Amino acid sequence: KTTKHTILSIKKKKNNAPIVMITAYDALFASLFAPHADILLVGDSLQMSFGGQSDTLGATMDIMLYHTKAVCQGAPGALVVLDMPFGSYATPEIGLANAMRVYQESAATAVKIEGGKERAALISHLTCNGIAVMGHIGLLPQNVRAEGGYKVKGKDADQEAALIQDAKALEKAGVFCMVIEGVVSEVATKVAQSVNVPLIGIGAGNGVDGQVLVWSDAFGFFNEFKPKFVKRYLEGATLIEEAMATYAKEVTARQFPDATTSY
Ligand code: KIV
Ligand code: NA
Repeated sequence: KTTKHTILSIKKKKNNAPIVMITAYDALFASLFAPHADILLVGDSLQMSFGGQSDTLGATMDIMLYHTKAVCQGAPGALVVLDMPFGSYATPEIGLANAMRVYQESAATAVKIEGGKERAALISHLTCNGIAVMGHIGLLPQNVRAEGGYKVKGKDADQEAALIQDAKALEKAGVFCMVIEGVVSEVATKVAQSVNVPLIGIGAGNGVDGQVLVWSDAFGFFNEFKPKFVKRYLEGATLIEEAMATYAKEVTARQFPDATTSY
């Protein structure tokens, strides 16, 4: 049932049909998401949503590869992208060595790299060496400590011009598509129109070429707060809490197991 996308078929979706991307961190949920997703992203957001950390910076190549292998196992044939973690592409040499590991050790199709024109040389180095790269511009979560918070981009003409420059530099470096995160809608739309590769938005409005959400946000498993750009498609946390409470109650009351669940 999974749509078997390639780098080429994703590129062709530009000006055709919006791209559906969602994060996945394990085999079980990957198998549930894959039939409806064009791309599964093993995001370093797992360090927050599943690792319980306050930012993504502690994710490592070993952690990302462990989760990517699980996702590929759960969704054979899906286009899986490994999100290169903080520090894994500090130089073109380090980046290529780590990206090679992704192809050697997992079935992922591509890697994602955060950054604009400052990463163009690195991304060219990867694409020249046969690595498929997804870019990521706008708000860059891996810069959170250096910038002192998460700040929406595209708020003035200079930022708009910089984003268009970033998108063009990444297109030239050979990315097959890019994420645009936390950007004012009208600006994100203009950035998408300035290049021929698809832009997949998160908090970037509805004028881009696709959407991505962190699945635990989209399905209501993260209850502490809801960023404006998240839509909740399920009250996941509530469902799990209710199920867990019922299980606990039945064990305590010796209602479970009963005859139908005993040998
Ligand atoms: O880590 C992640 O989940 C991401 C997406 C939000 C694009 O980078
Ligand atoms: Na990420």
